[in-house]
Amino acid sequence: MAKTKRQKPKSRAAAKKPARKVVKLAAKKPVKKANGNGKSNGLPKPSSKPWGQAGLALQGVRVLDFTHVQSGPTCTQLLAYMGADVIKVERPGVGDITRGQLRDVPGADSLYFTMLNGTKRSITIDSKHAKGMEILNRLIKTCDVLVENFAPGALDRMGLTWDYIHKTNPRMIVASVKGFGPGPYEDCKVYENVAQCAGGAASTTGFREGPPLVTGAQIGDSGTGLHLALGIVTALYQRIRTGRGQKVLCAMQDGVLNLARVKLRDQQRLAHGPLTEYSQYGEGVPFGVAVPRAGNDSGGGQPGWIVKCKGWETDPDAYLYFITQAPVWNEICDVIGEPTWKTDPDYATPKARLPRLKQIFARIEAFTMTMTKFEAMELFNKHDIPCGPILSMKEIAEEQSLRATGTVVELDHPTRGKYLTVGNPIKLSDSPARVERSPLLGEHTEEILSKVLGYSAAEVADIKSSGAITAPDKSKAAA
Ligand code: COA
Repeated sequence: MAKTKRQKPKSRAAAKKPARKVVKLAAKKPVKKANGNGKSNGLPKPSSKPWGQAGLALQGVRVLDFTHVQSGPTCTQLLAYMGADVIKVERPGVGDITRGQLRDVPGADSLYFTMLNGTKRSITIDSKHAKGMEILNRLIKTCDVLVENFAPGALDRMGLTWDYIHKTNPRMIVASVKGFGPGPYEDCKVYENVAQCAGGAASTTGFREGPPLVTGAQIGDSGTGLHLALGIVTALYQRIRTGRGQKVLCAMQDGVLNLARVKLRDQQRLAHGPLTEYSQYGEGVPFGVAVPRAGNDSGGGQPGWIVKCKGWETDPDAYLYFITQAPVWNEICDVIGEPTWKTDPDYATPKARLPRLKQIFARIEAFTMTMTKFEAMELFNKHDIPCGPILSMKEIAEEQSLRATGTVVELDHPTRGKYLTVGNPIKLSDSPARVERSPLLGEHTEEILSKVLGYSAAEVADIKSSGAITAPDKSKAAA
């Protein structure tokens, strides 16, 4: 594997005090202190060495990151968090298009970009310039993994076909995100919501009476990036045995379908009768030929619904998700003040309750409307009744336990200042996450040319004047 210069994990940006009010979750267990860096990730201390001293999990893996927008960058950011040296190749003068999209601070890289490209290095290379291709060739020889999510055919048009890359570096793993796998749509460009629709998620999301809905969670982009990261790590593992790289392909349609697999389960169950846990069953509405939208019904066998809490009239997030889990039915009846439901044959068994779920949740809601979602959470948790507050993004941004575990991290950026990002949601007991700010466009170009690729100072000067790493001079072009 390639040697990395960045051997020592830098300390993560410390969790800072929030500027404003902190909403406290009714956490039953205090946040534990653990691990060598003084932070808790909820895992035991590693056996012998202090946390992180054994190096990061993917230390020594070098990634040629040809990704843009969201799906690919999600994948490579995770690899970087795990310790890989991720070198992001961007078009000179332009960079990843998201640098300028949804800009909130004039002149600074957008949050869209900064939150998906942390802990990477940026080099600008024009892949359509002969000298640029020479630099890319050197990168291909020195990297372990190439990740890309261009439109179908774009990498081949650059001359970087699988055959060419494999011949140049037989150990190279070439990982791609595409919208669709081989088939009628393989040549199509795809964005998040297209994948949510084509992967079966949208047709099963929303309310029965309304149109299909996409979800706020980016299951098409970030979800597929996650799948790709697993494919890459798996290929790296197999390479230990074979010595050979391989192609890894994740289609966004496939990734979404994988996340929506319970709905394909339900599609097959439909052939054997109605889906009794869907509230439309209790309401006497017949099922059609395909899995319907289920509103806020629980996806599993324990009926659940979203109920109002105190303040719902003015606060759009004053709600609680409540699950009428069968093993705690007696506790639910006692807490909401319906003790007779414990023995009443219309309510005492899960089967008897199914046609009455609407009425049961209305009763639960009448109770939860007398308290805030946090008070309700505290009360129900005392009785082991599963429920969860609907947290707004404001509340998540201010939630201290997420800062303490490094799931939400505050970073400092030279042009935009402080910003929040999502750190590594995957915690490893022997490998702390390395969460650093995103690079400026081309920030590491010279460093990579000289220190990674071994170009001399004179060669770097030549490259600079060649136009391979700089944006075309528009004034010259116009003249
Ligand atoms: N130097 C020179 N040219 C470069 C370059 C560089 N460093 N980096 C990219 N380019 C060129 C590519 O070669 C391509 O040129 P070509 O079409 O002439 O061959 C061009 O930039 C644009 O690439 P493309 O991927 O087609 O961008 P797009 O903006 O038209 O499409 C997507 C964007 C996301 C729709 C498309 O990339 C796609 O479908 N990707 C796969 C699915 C995916 O990941 N979607 C989710 C995005 S979050």
